[in-house]
Amino acid sequence: MTKTLTAPRAKAEGSRNYDIKDISLAEAGKLKIEWAEREMPVLRLVKERFAKEKPLEGINIAACLHVTAETANLMLTLKAGGAKIHLCASNPLSTQDEVAASLVKHAGIPTYAIKGEDRKTYFSHIVQALAIQPNVTMDDGADLVSHIHTHWSAGYSKVIGSTEETTTGVIRLRAMEKDGALRFPVIAVNDALTKHFFDNRYGTGQSTLDGILRCTNLLLAGKVVVIAGYGWCGRGVATRAKGMGAHVVVTEVNPLRAIEAAMDGFEVMPMKEAAKKGDLFITLTGDLNVIDTEHFKVMKDGAIVCNSGHFNDEINLPALKSLSKKIRTVRPFVEEYSLKDGRLVHVLAEGRLINLSAAEGHPASVMDMSFANQSLGSEYLVKNARELERKVYAVPQPIDEEIARLKLKAMGIAIDTLTPEQVKYLNSWEQGT
Ligand code: ADE
Repeated sequence: MTKTLTAPRAKAEGSRNYDIKDISLAEAGKLKIEWAEREMPVLRLVKERFAKEKPLEGINIAACLHVTAETANLMLTLKAGGAKIHLCASNPLSTQDEVAASLVKHAGIPTYAIKGEDRKTYFSHIVQALAIQPNVTMDDGADLVSHIHTHWSAGYSKVIGSTEETTTGVIRLRAMEKDGALRFPVIAVNDALTKHFFDNRYGTGQSTLDGILRCTNLLLAGKVVVIAGYGWCGRGVATRAKGMGAHVVVTEVNPLRAIEAAMDGFEVMPMKEAAKKGDLFITLTGDLNVIDTEHFKVMKDGAIVCNSGHFNDEINLPALKSLSKKIRTVRPFVEEYSLKDGRLVHVLAEGRLINLSAAEGHPASVMDMSFANQSLGSEYLVKNARELERKVYAVPQPIDEEIARLKLKAMGIAIDTLTPEQVKYLNSWEQGT
């Protein structure tokens, strides 16, 4: 249901619409946003500069991101830079309703996001976010860009470019570039080193286990935890699970990653084998049906399956349903499937991103760097769009390095610098043994 703001709530700029769960949650949301901000020193510096220089003045931004306290701080930074924003959720289960309420009430940002929204509402929110007629779009999973390209109209001709937060989104966008389908340039925020080295590895590593533990209260020590996918996210979760005493098994399709997992000390095997051994399964592959009928058929009684990849199609839930005679919710975010042969399989958060559904997503300290990349990436896009082609671009290296320097400084860590002699040595080839 879309509500029209009426005074005194009618503070939202641009369109006067929003669609959130409950505006009375706003005070709790404000506290949560402020709590996150304490751990986001790099973004805070960007915000202070943006407030002075207004690099986004006159720019309309449609953002489709997980509506969390960290995202709220990004929105406040873009607003400080002069942008007008419409925000919608990038996943039906990841919205923090109190944060959405505060964004509407305190920041005047039209927000379209309700935790637990159905598919129809999710897509209607995308349409409402795009009603701002954006100059820049900001995606986590490429749903805005995909909607614009599949529903192209003159209203979208003002888009000068987009930024993309996540691996899955970048993969979709590169496929569009390859097909010659992309209509504007995209900055792949995910590909910045200060993003995926930290957010994907340490952020997903911690927040995935946080989500699992909050909704199950499981003891990881002594459990067999099967991690599907050894990309940056899988590496992070595997390392953290091992640190908590789990016996970690990795499944992979990429031979190099499989060797790496083996040399990192994990058991590596096909899912068909792992399915018989696992107590807990976590998918982070970005691909379809990684856990399928043949795997459910051999799982142990009581096995738990969940996903921390972007989309909810890594676990074939329709297949599990057809093997089952009964499904019931036994705890928040835990569904128990009773199989026809008598075994139980538990599915967490309907196979959606466990870290953002059952917990609060990555901690603010790591989102600090991801969202500094988003803000500086948008500024770069606005300044340079005319020179950019319809391609997917990395965040320029000087921006990436500056974010790393600022983060180190905020962490109180000093590092060495090369002496002139060392610089000369590194740039020469004559000197050897
Ligand atoms: N993706 C993962 N964690 C997140 C968070 N805390 N906020 C926004 N997007 C996220």
